[in-house]
Amino acid sequence: MARNLILAFETSCDETSVAVIEDGNQILSNVVATQIKSHQRFGGVVPEVASRHHIEQITICVKEALAEAQVTYSDLTAVAVTYGPGLVGALLIGVTAAKTIAWAHNLPLIPVNHIAGHIYAARFVQPVEFPAMALVVSGGHTELVYMPAENQFEIIGETRDDAAGEAYDKIGRVLGINYPAGKTVDEWAHEGQDTFNFPRAMDKEDNFDFSFSGLKSAFINTVHHADQIGETLNSQDLAASFQAAVVDVLADKTVKALQQYPVKELILAGGVAANRGIRSRLQQELKAFSTTELVLAPLALCGDNAAMIGAVGEVLYRHNVFADASLNANPGLEF
Ligand code: KG4
Ligand code: ZN
Repeated sequence: MARNLILAFETSCDETSVAVIEDGNQILSNVVATQIKSHQRFGGVVPEVASRHHIEQITICVKEALAEAQVTYSDLTAVAVTYGPGLVGALLIGVTAAKTIAWAHNLPLIPVNHIAGHIYAARFVQPVEFPAMALVVSGGHTELVYMPAENQFEIIGETRDDAAGEAYDKIGRVLGINYPAGKTVDEWAHEGQDTFNFPRAMDKEDNFDFSFSGLKSAFINTVHHADQIGETLNSQDLAASFQAAVVDVLADKTVKALQQYPVKELILAGGVAANRGIRSRLQQELKAFSTTELVLAPLALCGDNAAMIGAVGEVLYRHNVFADASLNANPGLEF
């Protein structure tokens, strides 16, 4: 059988990424040009700056991805691209590049949802078995997604305010950590103790939703108050206390969801899925669910990348989900 080779694009935020994926689960190349350094001095992603970097990088990434995979355009089966959710100007660069290549080389164009991409990064570990549940935690999203079958997504819970990653980045700033702060806060958390007992919002409520803005404010108020009275707080303990609160809420709601929705797999996905605290806590909790397997996205594929978009692309290819040249970026795209 001919190889299914998908050229995949991801430009929804601050990584320009192009990948070549074989049969949905083999990475022939996955080029990621990160712009983090350019955004760091602003303390977060500046949409205009992101778009400009994507324009500069996209053709370079395509060339590199094809060369590394040792394929040419004529070997390709299809082109897949993230068309939402994300920053509109950033998404447009990927969408325009993908449309152009699809048109020029007469290839089918596959429109991919960024969140589906994070979930399907699990394919690079093992085949996704259904029904499945995904806890998607990133800089822009915190969602529990139930998947009764392939390519079916039902959001059963989500954040009412900040995403978990966003909260990490904001409290990290107060601790003097550069954007994106999640990884460093995670490291500090492992050197400290949960001594501050920050709030676990909505933890006991009978739903699968989350809220992190109260926790973020409690953290910032604690630090500012200490500053005012000239007290120095232990940064590692602050990080550990913050992380303990985030992990408690994420884990408790996920366990509640698994009790109501028995699934074969629980997938942890998105940038925050790299967090050591949540990874080990879910490993513990899953011992009580003998028929549910925990699938942790590979660390290198937790953040934004085009490989995960190619993994979904292959699913959509089999389901005949294609777009034409009228495909547009959809910043608020939902499932
Ligand atoms: O999925 P992603 O790369 O981009 C979005 O689609 O948002 O996620 C980036 C987010 C950032 O907020 C970053 O601080 C967070 O993931 N992050 C972490 C860790 N590594 C990255 N948060 C907590 N612990 C980590 N180890
Ligand atoms: Zn993402």
